[in-house]
Amino acid sequence: MIQRWHMKKKTQLPLVAIVFFLFVLCTIFYNERRFQEIHRKGDHIGNRNHVKKTFAFQSTPDAPSGALDRFSKCNSTVKYSGRKAGSSLLQSDEEEEEEMNDSCDVFSGSWVFDNVSLPLYNESDCPYMSDQLACHKHGRPDLMYQNWRWQPHGCNLKRWNATEMWDKLRGKRLMFVGDSLNRGQWISMLCLLESVIPAGKKSITPNAPLTIFRAEEYNATVEFQWAPLMVESNSDDPVNHRLDERIMRPDSVLRHASEWDHVDILVFNSYLWWRQGPVKLLWSNEKNGVCEEAESLDAMELAMDEWAKWIESNVDPLKKKVFFVTMSPTHLWSREWEPGTEGNCYNEKTPIEDERYWGSGSDLPTMRMVGNVVNRLKSKVSVLNITQMSEYRKDGHPSIYRKFWESRSAEQLANPASYSDCIHWCLPGVPDVWNQLLFHFL
Ligand SMILES: *[C@@H]1O[C@H](CO)[C@@H](O)[C@H](O)[C@H]1NC(C)=O
Ligand SMILES: *[C@@H]1O[C@H](CO)[C@@H](O)[C@H](O)[C@H]1NC(C)=O
Ligand SMILES: *[C@@H]1O[C@H](CO)[C@@H](O)[C@H](O)[C@H]1NC(C)=O
Ligand SMILES: *[C@@H]1O[C@H](CO)[C@@H](O)[C@H](O)[C@H]1NC(C)=O
Ligand SMILES: *[C@@H]1O[C@H](CO)[C@@H](O)[C@H](O)[C@H]1NC(C)=O
Ligand SMILES: *[C@@H]1O[C@H](CO)[C@@H](O)[C@H](O)[C@H]1NC(C)=O
Ligand SMILES: *[C@@H]1O[C@H](CO)[C@@H](O)[C@H](O)[C@H]1NC(C)=O
Repeated sequence: MIQRWHMKKKTQLPLVAIVFFLFVLCTIFYNERRFQEIHRKGDHIGNRNHVKKTFAFQSTPDAPSGALDRFSKCNSTVKYSGRKAGSSLLQSDEEEEEEMNDSCDVFSGSWVFDNVSLPLYNESDCPYMSDQLACHKHGRPDLMYQNWRWQPHGCNLKRWNATEMWDKLRGKRLMFVGDSLNRGQWISMLCLLESVIPAGKKSITPNAPLTIFRAEEYNATVEFQWAPLMVESNSDDPVNHRLDERIMRPDSVLRHASEWDHVDILVFNSYLWWRQGPVKLLWSNEKNGVCEEAESLDAMELAMDEWAKWIESNVDPLKKKVFFVTMSPTHLWSREWEPGTEGNCYNEKTPIEDERYWGSGSDLPTMRMVGNVVNRLKSKVSVLNITQMSEYRKDGHPSIYRKFWESRSAEQLANPASYSDCIHWCLPGVPDVWNQLLFHFL
């Protein structure tokens, strides 16, 4: 009996995986389009030259031959050979250094209802809000999702203070690098920070591979770089990246890293883009366009290793701070927190209380791989381990309360869960706390 059940479960897995990939495709990849809308509402549009310059690496005739863009194709595809990108210089730090002050793990705690000190800003007051994340504006009736404070066990998080954060950023560049989840965190940071800067003293560039918010008085910038796979890929266009296949260069972060050189604080993430099935690898020295096809985890590990090599040889921890944000959880199957139900995050209004809860969307082998890579870089990279705390927040996603660019069929409209976004996060909300953690560790 038990065995039978196991077998049944197993045969269902691929289907579940396919549905998940399709879902991710729909909710993430559709909606990067017309992201520029959020910037139009910004203060004034500044520094167009810079935008032209950063666009130059896109698919222009003078791009270096072999640079990947959305028109790149593999001539043929073979199975991944297991090749790694050259020997890594990295040695694991053997001695277990105590993490800063071990007295308290701020990532372990619970969500406490607090409608007195939260939210830290109003959705409608933030000029940089995205229509993907503005849940109240798009009709969400329950607003409790804005009122949960993260309470670590045994200590308190530093209280958010925008002026103090600007003091830390004075004369510096802070850059978020990654995918749309990381972009959500960047928007949250802008909303948390912008209100103390008077109008006319702040500006933002329009949509580009690198989007820059400037605060004149502080001579500081808060930037977002679109780099969903971290290494060079055919999906590096921040607007047009709805592609049938993912092709990446496992041995090159240069396209993105050229910007990282002059940044003081870097915040990376990468996860969901690896979860859509196999990825094609096109090595730099491959002359005939032959790709290798690798499984998600192998491909992500290659990208992480390449990223780690850059960190190892370019980061002086006295001059540059680097953070890696762990996987952002999804809430695609309500049966995982409420057995017997068929839904997803749609209509969820409160956090999960079971502190052991961990959803199947957060892949443990991936977490272990990330842990191994960042452990080797211990002195140079801090982990913002937001996964467990965000697992509890099944109520934090936009579900149907966001702008959808595609029109929906009558059938979909009759079943709201079918088109709910259970991947991104409403603002004000969960990513504000990720930024509070960043503030805590800066
Ligand atoms: C750890 O933190 C506690 C309380 O914040 C402090 O009293 C103690 O000195 C710290 N220890 C170290 C080694 O920094
Ligand atoms: C905060 O929540 C409490 C309990 O739900 C409620 O009685 C109170 O009116 C709320 N206060 C505000 C300012 O929303
Ligand atoms: C949000 O708006 C309400 C009503 O306009 C106001 O009372 C409150 O102070 C605002 N909150 C913040 C954080 O600005
Ligand atoms: C915020 O930080 C500034 C500068 O460090 C300080 O002057 C101010 O009192 C702080 N505000 C609060 C509410 O703590
Ligand atoms: C502004 O900050 C940049 C670094 O981001 C620095 O190179 C420059 O000298 C600063 N300018 C002023 C006027 O402080
Ligand atoms: C694919 O093969 C053709 C002919 O062999 C060659 O001209 C082309 O450059 C190759 N494509 C790539 C991406 O290398
Ligand atoms: C993040 O925290 C979880 C427990 O919440 C742990 O299992 C995992 O190893 C941590 N990941 C990293 C990269 O530190």
